[in-house]
Amino acid sequence: SKIYNIAIDGPAGAGKSTIAKAVSAKLGFVYVDTGAMYRAMALYFLRKGIKPDEEAVISEAVKEVGVTISYENGAQQVILNGENVSGLIRTEEVSQMASASSIYLPVREKLVELQKELARNENVIMDGRDIGTCVLPEADLKIYLTASTAVRAKRRYDELTEKGEPCSLEEIEKEIAERDYRDMHRENSPLKQAEDAVLVDTSGLTIDEVIGEILKLASEKG
Ligand code: C5P
Repeated sequence: SKIYNIAIDGPAGAGKSTIAKAVSAKLGFVYVDTGAMYRAMALYFLRKGIKPDEEAVISEAVKEVGVTISYENGAQQVILNGENVSGLIRTEEVSQMASASSIYLPVREKLVELQKELARNENVIMDGRDIGTCVLPEADLKIYLTASTAVRAKRRYDELTEKGEPCSLEEIEKEIAERDYRDMHRENSPLKQAEDAVLVDTSGLTIDEVIGEILKLASEKG
């Protein structure tokens, strides 16, 4: 039967992974979090003491990095040269390094190839920055998920506060804005809404409302 692919793109903290995970469970699709792959690569560069502006060093180092994914009870695990690093990639340091190193073509080419391969034989819902524009240009449904910077920062702030991690709302908003700017203005595959993507602004919506909206779009395009 025909493979059905859903692409979800958008800026940091728009709720892409929460939404994509829930929709994948409802539809029985495989959820692919591409940001985790850029994060795993970033962790490798950080461990090697590589600085984000060392393009030549990063381009060489890419050749030593093997990133793959596997699933444990339905949850995506990201494997870096044989090591499961899923628990180590959600720090602010890794976020910034992922954004800074994802501007380089060798980094992107390696991960995009893996992503295309994953979607070829399975129904996937894949989230990232360039899924609708580059990775899966033929996706059956494309969503551009966004929310205001203030709303995205507040959600992240609440999440960290709930975990008991002290943080500053102002600092989080600054970091999100910085990462978005870099993701949207880079030369290679910048974050932008694909022409045929449906814009979903989640600023005033609950998670369930967003999930409902996407399931509706998927059934219309089924
Ligand atoms: O989605 P997440 O916040 O985990 O992504 C981390 C970083 O990886 C992003 O800020 C972006 O620079 C990069 N990324 C990318 N293309 C993707 C997914 C993530 O460039 N498809």
